[in-house]
Order: sequence, then C-alpha cells, then structure tokens
Amino acid sequence: MLKARIAVFVSGGGTNLQALLDAEKEGKLPSGEIALVVSNKPDVYALERASAAGVEGVVLHKKILGQEAFEKQLIALLEEKKIDLIVLAGFLAILSEDFVKRYPRRIINIHPSLIPSFCGDGYYGLRVHEEALKKGVKVTGATVHFVNEITDGGEILLQKAVNIPEGIDASGLQKLVMEEAEWLLLPAAAEQVSREIVRKRNET
Ligand code: GAR
Repeated sequence: MLKARIAVFVSGGGTNLQALLDAEKEGKLPSGEIALVVSNKPDVYALERASAAGVEGVVLHKKILGQEAFEKQLIALLEEKKIDLIVLAGFLAILSEDFVKRYPRRIINIHPSLIPSFCGDGYYGLRVHEEALKKGVKVTGATVHFVNEITDGGEILLQKAVNIPEGIDASGLQKLVMEEAEWLLLPAAAEQVSREIVRKRNET
C-alpha cells in the first residue's frame, strides 16, 4: 500500500510532532508516513526531534522571506516531496487564504481547547489556557480540525475533553491538555485522514 505522505509544520518545541513520530514508530499510523518537517523559524527544538527520527527538516524563515516568498517556497517544497497531507502541530504562523484553498481537506490543525471556545485570531499556546482559567470553565480539552480560510473554523475531526483541576495554573493546564488530549488526538486524526486519502487514491 502506498502510504499518504505527511508534512508536519512546526514553530516550537514539537511535542505534538514527537507524538506523531512515536505513533508512526509504534505502528499507530499505518496509512501515513511522516516525510517532511517544516519550521517557519530556525533553531526550534522540533527540528532536533525530526533529525533524531531520521526525518528531513526544512526551515523556511518566514520573518525574513515575507509571506509571499515563504508560501511560494513552501508550495514548491510540498510538490517536490509529493506531500499528500499537511499537519499543523504547534505551527503558529498564519497561512494565506490562497495557500489554504490549494489544499482542501488536506490540512489539519491541533488546537488546545474545545472549539468553538477559546479559539480564533490571537488564541494560541499558553494564551488559550490563561483565558480558559480566567473564564473559570471546569472542562477544557483539545480539537483537531480541517483548516480552511477561517482561523480555527474548519470542520471538526476529533475532540477530547479534559477536566480542569482546582488551583492549576496555565502552564500546568497546558501540560495536562497535551498529555490527556493532544498527544492522543493528533496521531489518531492523522491516521483517519491518511486512511481516507489512501482509500480515495485506490478508487481512482
Ligand atoms: C500545542 O499546545 C498546540 O495545541 C498549540 O501550540 C502548542 C505547541 O506545542 N497550538 C495552538 O495554539 C494553535 N492555535 P508543541 O510545539 O509542543 O507541539
């Protein structure tokens, strides 16, 4: 079986990338293979995780390139590597509407809340958990969704709830949501979409 070729986009520590790499190694991503890791910033720890797993890591320094050149090079790279599925795993750069429209139902993102709560422009990383604690919600979680032109607005694929313990701070909650939800959901969603890509390919 020809597997779906996956590119993982990162901007930081890459614990979600690690969850994907581990899942592949453990046979939990049978329909997909992680073929490429792309970072919009140099020197992020996620790139070391890619290299340790023997996966090619590429830096496209968006701040230096600017949006247009960044996306042009990105598209060329994705074509060259024959990528079928893009996984945004803690990727904190904005992708243009034109870019997103090129890959309908071929880009997924992990967001650290139960969408439609605490999502949209400006809600990323620790900020999401700070806002959840400020609001005093008792349950939060994570969501994997398809990416469209609306920030965090694409069709929801998987969600998992996490109870918020009394007295926890934002970084404690971030870690808890990762452990109890994100690291399980993202590989499961990547497999689900990869399986669908392979199935469609075999139909034609
Ligand atoms: C994760 O919590 C991810 O859900 C979040 O950034 C973190 C990246 O961590 N993404 C967003 O907030 C996107 N809106 P990681 O680099 O260790 O995977």
